[in-house]
Amino acid sequence: MQTAIKQNTFADDVMKGLSGTPKFLSSKYFYDDEGSRLFLEIMKLPEYYLTRAETEIFSTQTRQIFEAFAENAAGFDLIELGAGDGSKTSLLVDFFLKQNAVFKYVPIDISAEALNLLTENFQAKFPTLSIQSEQGDYFQTLETFKSKFDRRKIILFLGSNIGNFAADQAVVFFKSLREVMNPNDLLFVGFDLQKNPRQIRQAYDDKQGVTAQFNLNLLTRINRELGANFSVPDFSHYATYHPIDGAARSFLISRKAQTVSIEVLNRQFEFADWEPIFMEISQKYSQPMIENLAKTSGFEVSQYFFDGQKFYSNALWKPV
Ligand code: AVI
Repeated sequence: MQTAIKQNTFADDVMKGLSGTPKFLSSKYFYDDEGSRLFLEIMKLPEYYLTRAETEIFSTQTRQIFEAFAENAAGFDLIELGAGDGSKTSLLVDFFLKQNAVFKYVPIDISAEALNLLTENFQAKFPTLSIQSEQGDYFQTLETFKSKFDRRKIILFLGSNIGNFAADQAVVFFKSLREVMNPNDLLFVGFDLQKNPRQIRQAYDDKQGVTAQFNLNLLTRINRELGANFSVPDFSHYATYHPIDGAARSFLISRKAQTVSIEVLNRQFEFADWEPIFMEISQKYSQPMIENLAKTSGFEVSQYFFDGQKFYSNALWKPV
């Protein structure tokens, strides 16, 4: 089993992160009920251009995307990793059905609630759609892919979710996808592109402070689930963008020297005044970076789809 596939528990990861220097917490834990609600709010913020850019690509280039998916295949299975509410994908599904395409939609998500909602909505909106939802961690679900699907698989990994992986994790992740893909399968990935650094930074430091709440909510989650006593107002959100490595990073900064106890870990953690906790990376890509990542992971880029401002790209990868 590869390292990225091994699943740690929340408690293990918090223990590891807060014992480290510098301290860190994993952004994959942002998405409890409140975190998921806050992320929906983020996607509507004026500063957060990513969702609008990807929706624009899906609405304006639906036919081109369809042609790329359907070329050289009698039918296909559209597998979406981390499907959420499937709102962008519904634009594709609507068009594909109107073209009488032969396909099945397989949304995969860790949240049973999100999946039930998506399935209900899609069944109501698209009564003829064949849909097979899968609840679970997509690393585990991946292992069953080879035997489960016998026609072209098109794997969707949208929303710039790959940006939340460190560079080495991204390669491990794509290599594990490559292993379960056949030569005629395709991978369709959403990448946020490098652009005006100020604009990127603002996307992670919105005026209304929703992104700050989104980060701070993880401390509230640790308080609730692991019996900790973080004083949330004593931490503040700080977002950076580094134009050389193309990474937006967010931190929670301890506003004073303080000690936090975590009951479940049976441990206390000391914070120096102004000590940061590294919370999240949101990597921004250039085209050469995307091509290099594809090559290192066993793929080549067969097509790019861009929004009008070239803020964002959905790249179609094929196995080599
Ligand atoms: C889910 N992910 C792609 C978002 C991002 O842009 O990195 C999460 C997020 N963090 C702060 N705002 C949005």
